[in-house]
Amino acid sequence: MILNGEHLFVTGGAAGIGEAIVIGGAKEGAKVSFVDIDDAKSLALVEKLSKEGFQVQYQHADVTNYENFESAYKKLTSTYGDVTVAVSNAGRNSYADPVEYQEEEWNSFFALDLKSSWYVAKLCLPAMRKSKYGSIVNISSIHGRMSRPNFFPYSAAKGGIVGLSRNLALDEGKNGIRVNSVSPGTTATPLLKSYMATFPDEKAHALSVAPNGRFGSPEEIANVILFTLSKDASFINGADLMVDGALHSRYA
Ligand SMILES: NC(=O)c1ccc[n+]([C@@H]2O[C@H](COP(=O)([O-])OP(=O)(O)OC[C@H]3O[C@@H](n4cnc5c(N)ncnc54)[C@H](O)[C@@H]3O)[C@@H](O)[C@H]2O)c1
Repeated sequence: MILNGEHLFVTGGAAGIGEAIVIGGAKEGAKVSFVDIDDAKSLALVEKLSKEGFQVQYQHADVTNYENFESAYKKLTSTYGDVTVAVSNAGRNSYADPVEYQEEEWNSFFALDLKSSWYVAKLCLPAMRKSKYGSIVNISSIHGRMSRPNFFPYSAAKGGIVGLSRNLALDEGKNGIRVNSVSPGTTATPLLKSYMATFPDEKAHALSVAPNGRFGSPEEIANVILFTLSKDASFINGADLMVDGALHSRYA
């Protein structure tokens, strides 16, 4: 029960890694609040966990829209109190040729994969500063450090997440708040499924270069995130934790 007594807030908690964080956080003793845009999946998850006796609540919010996000966040904290540990997880892929790429897609993509993590900090930090306690994890990716052709928007946003987290750690350490990023490698989630559907030859290739011969599970990523949020990780700050089954250790 490493999150006993915490109020955990998660973005994109309905599916994939976010869902594993919501479930894992509840099992580790936290009250859990999450936002997502998929009401059906979110409500089904709340119902399932509530029946099992966990304290979990959901509000619809598109995290790219600050007013919408703030209003959902206020509703969630009005019932469960101030957030003590938070994960900015919601994200999607964007890969393109830099000449063909359109400004509308740049704005919409960066609003989700980079700007929404700043929004999480903007919403959580005031109460965390007051109580001199808190921990935030932002989800980057292996693409934050190394990438492959045609991934420039995703690499740029995920590199930005590492930089954002590093600086927030420097700024907030004196307030008793830790900020880290976690960088997953290839992880078996609905996002990965849709990627493999777009590029059908990719699955065999991705498995052939995976040092462990398999993809990670959402739970294997969530376990590291929950530990990093917890008091057990009290001196981990400003770090980017790579959780990728050694994919980053591979030379070509
Ligand atoms: N799956 C991987 O291989 C992998 C690898 C590295 C990093 N990541 C990162 O991990 C995070 C989670 O990825 P995943 O694979 O679990 O994705 P996923 O698509 O399976 O789940 C993402 C969740 O975010 C929600 N979401 C999407 N847009 C939203 C918005 N505007 N507002 C609120 N919620 C929104 C979705 O509805 C969904 O529930 C992302 O930041 C992703 O970039 C994933």
